[in-house]
Amino acid sequence: MKTIINRARAALLKYDIRALAVIADKLKTLGRDIWAWENIGDPIKQGHQAPDWIKQALINVVKKNSNWGYSPTEGLDEAREFIAATERQQGIRLAKQDIVFTSGLGHGINTLYQSLLNGGGRAIHPSPAYPAHSSSESFFAGAAPIFYACRATNNWQPNLNDLEEKIKKHPEIRFILTIFPNNPTSVCYSDEILKGIAALARRYDLGVISDETYIRLLYKNQTQTGLAKIMSAGQPFPLIVMKSTSKDIPWPGGRSGWLEFYNLGQDKNFAELEETIKQNLRVQVGSTTMVQAALPAIYGDPRYQTYLAGFIAKLEKQSRYISALLNTVKGIYCVPGQGAFYLAAVFKDGVLRPGQSLPITNAKAKEYIESLTADPNLPLDKRFAFYLMAAKGIILTPLSSFEGPPGFRVTTLKTDLKETKKVYAEIKSAIEQYLASSIHKI
Ligand SMILES: Cc1ncc(COP(=O)(O)O)c(C=O)c1O
Repeated sequence: MKTIINRARAALLKYDIRALAVIADKLKTLGRDIWAWENIGDPIKQGHQAPDWIKQALINVVKKNSNWGYSPTEGLDEAREFIAATERQQGIRLAKQDIVFTSGLGHGINTLYQSLLNGGGRAIHPSPAYPAHSSSESFFAGAAPIFYACRATNNWQPNLNDLEEKIKKHPEIRFILTIFPNNPTSVCYSDEILKGIAALARRYDLGVISDETYIRLLYKNQTQTGLAKIMSAGQPFPLIVMKSTSKDIPWPGGRSGWLEFYNLGQDKNFAELEETIKQNLRVQVGSTTMVQAALPAIYGDPRYQTYLAGFIAKLEKQSRYISALLNTVKGIYCVPGQGAFYLAAVFKDGVLRPGQSLPITNAKAKEYIESLTADPNLPLDKRFAFYLMAAKGIILTPLSSFEGPPGFRVTTLKTDLKETKKVYAEIKSAIEQYLASSIHKI
């Protein structure tokens, strides 16, 4: 067979969150027990469960024969109308025609960037951020992703000066991506920041893609304004808001998400993009029907808010404990979370060194990890993560996998605080041991 793959382009398809699990599986075959999966952002895998009344809502849907058929390309009318009406109740103008469902938001992300790039337009991404956006966008562009900085020293808020500089430098940019609460940082964005992003969109004739997957998962007394609301109080600009049922029901296995388009009528290029996305989805036939059919009964049930508050309280308790503990570890710091179920810890400047390691007792695991860490281009936070896995059987995700500064992301999804205490005591001592393993001052 002649060459098929353009390797440079294929290398842009990165998703280290899953790639780490492959290394963990290999370590398991070598006899290294992996007992703490701090990388997993699936609430169900971490022991959370949807209550019976939500399961019953799905059973009701399953019993209806029409729900076994294809959904219309854009999604079921009743689900789209429910979402549009929910937004309208908050004073936001949204019609059901301006919503399209996809089979999980991952599918929506992929379809959007595939459609956007027909004309060579680019999106600029926050750094750090959930990597599916930059991976998919850069893959379709066939060029390296473009980032703007969000730094821990500024509570992970977007640096608007950096964003504007990059917009000026890259005239091919058509969209600014925002994600809040963000994955991996779990921080919300202030209205002031969002207004600043909106102003940049207007000044440079750009659109905004706002991934609001976690917007319902805000810790107690925390507020977060959606971008559609910010926009409706000011001048319009092309806006795509993304949402998903994966995290706030939570139902990641249901594979259902949707895109909301705002201001289509005011920009013909934007309307053309929306039509291309719909055409792209038509080619793919349609998206998952069952979750859409159950969605109004779930989100619209008076029990939903009570249930959600209980789920969030568990996440917040874990988050508070973990961030407080991580901030006692010399050499790292962690901005406390405000929602969602992640925390990002950053290594202080200069504490990570190429020669650092942890003792690995399993000889085969040691040999394997040493072969991986021999790569001189390996980011130093990945090196730490590899040693932690092989030496302690704990997986966390390096922040470089989110295009962030050296550090790591953990999830706050455990259901048992005792277990969390055990895992994070190990992580604390492993970090201290790792950082002390080469001669330097913290
Ligand atoms: C910010 C963000 N957007 C989108 C997704 C994808 O969600 P889905 O399960 O709907 O594909 C995730 C999943 O972790 C995410 O963190």
